[in-house]
Amino acid sequence: MRIVLKIGGNEIDDGDFLSRVAALVGKLQKANHHVVLVHGGGKEITGLLDKLGIETRFVNGLRYTDARSLDAVEMMLSGSINKRLVRTLQQSGVSALGMSGIDGKLLTAEKITRDGEDIGLVGEVSAVNVQLLESLLSSHVVVLSPISADKTSGGPLNVNADYAAAAVASFLASELIIFLSNVPGVINEGNVLQKIDEKEFDALKENGVITGGMVPKIEAALRAVKDGAKIAFITDASGTEQIISGRNAGTQVAA
Ligand SMILES: Nc1ncnc2c1ncn2[C@@H]1O[C@H](COP(=O)(O)OP(=O)(O)OP(=O)(O)O)[C@@H](O)[C@H]1O
Ligand SMILES: [Mg+2]
Repeated sequence: MRIVLKIGGNEIDDGDFLSRVAALVGKLQKANHHVVLVHGGGKEITGLLDKLGIETRFVNGLRYTDARSLDAVEMMLSGSINKRLVRTLQQSGVSALGMSGIDGKLLTAEKITRDGEDIGLVGEVSAVNVQLLESLLSSHVVVLSPISADKTSGGPLNVNADYAAAAVASFLASELIIFLSNVPGVINEGNVLQKIDEKEFDALKENGVITGGMVPKIEAALRAVKDGAKIAFITDASGTEQIISGRNAGTQVAA
């Protein structure tokens, strides 16, 4: 199977969490699955921007990114976090290759606005270099930072990692995409929803149940299943372990 695993940035600096991710990715590689590990880095990016005295602002779940913050975002995602993941995987015996969307033009993006508002150097993936990605996947787990190449300028664009993962899953026609975050699934009134579709998402967003980073995550999952990925789940590390063992867990997102 082609599996896209997106891991969020909330626990990506926690050694125990990383070992857990490495173990489950190792299991998938041993079973001969092709795995793309797309990662975020929200928490550490905000930490670095704080140190640099740059204000953090989100517009409906997407980070406003000017040229100065993009430098820091790229440093953190394509440098520090990407290499930390590759090291951890390799230490667990996984053959891993760290890339960003810039390398080999794996991800080409086009600039977007959010709710009609300019959010700076932020894009959405419009093309994936599937040929290159597939050839890398035949021997390695590809650890992918979502920083992408701007279609017109060739320069870097910040892409929300959930969106980038969804695009990869769509272009690869993945059998499975899992958005591994720090929550067990989409929560409503204290319970994890087993399933969510676009109509329910719109309603829960409207009444303020789904907010922040969960908004682009569900948007991305919906897009993935509409555009060619087979199954999408939102869950945490435990849920992911269950799903890859063939059990249901977390929230399945259906078009
Ligand atoms: N209804 C909801 N159910 C669950 N989580 C929700 C809900 N509404 C908002 N959230 C928030 O969404 C967050 C997950 O999105 P967030 O962007 O923070 O993480 P991530 O995407 O895993 O990490 P990164 O953005 O670094 O890749 C949760 O930690 C939670 O605070
Ligand atoms: Mg997020």
